[in-house]
Amino acid sequence: MFYDTAKGDHGLPNDPFKALVAPRPIGWITTVDAQGHVNLAPFSFYNGVSDAPPMVMYCPGGSYGSAPAKHSLLNVQATGEFVVNVVSEELKEAMNVTAAMVDVGIDEMKLAGLEPAASHMVKPPRVARAPAALECKLWKVIELPGNGAHVPYSIVIGTVVGIYIDDKVVKDGRIDMLAFKPVGRLGYSEYSTVDNVFRMRRPE
Ligand SMILES: Cc1cc2nc3c(=O)[nH]c(=O)nc-3n(C[C@H](O)[C@H](O)[C@H](O)COP(=O)(O)O)c2cc1C
Repeated sequence: MFYDTAKGDHGLPNDPFKALVAPRPIGWITTVDAQGHVNLAPFSFYNGVSDAPPMVMYCPGGSYGSAPAKHSLLNVQATGEFVVNVVSEELKEAMNVTAAMVDVGIDEMKLAGLEPAASHMVKPPRVARAPAALECKLWKVIELPGNGAHVPYSIVIGTVVGIYIDDKVVKDGRIDMLAFKPVGRLGYSEYSTVDNVFRMRRPE
């Protein structure tokens, strides 16, 4: 099959686009607003984009309630900092709770029964039970063109200035992926996690 994305003539019950860009890591983003209220939300339009220096991006799009954009965008624009928490398998339900579209100033971390832990180099706290957290300073926000249907997506790009890792997921000097068990987003309401790992060396 082939379809024209502008026409959306795939003939399937649901748009397959996100299922084709899969698995996607989930950036579980903590921000604070100018008054210090904590906000936590998952973003699967998320990835690492550089390792020299380490940099990541997440992409909020759309809006709800009275806010002109998602709180994770407004907060990072106001304060210039964010934390990416890694979603391990045991945190998947809590992560889902934090996707609730709640009023500005409502702390999704509390809503999901999670405890915060202070970050070292930025104001937004990390999720204490997350196996790793990347403390980030905003580099740039790039607004994407959008399709006129809702508030366009923006790419929020940040430099990772500090990294927390739970010692339990470090074995023999490496991150043990089977202990780390990051959750990946697929299409529809589907997710996956890491239950096998193989190695492949690049050609010389
Ligand atoms: C696994 C998962 C991935 C998501 N990825 C995105 C995303 O990449 N971009 C986005 O705008 N919303 C995404 N959402 C929806 C947001 O998490 C949701 O709109 C949330 O309420 C935004 O919160 P905020 O307004 O506090 O930033 C995702 C939801 C889930 C459950």
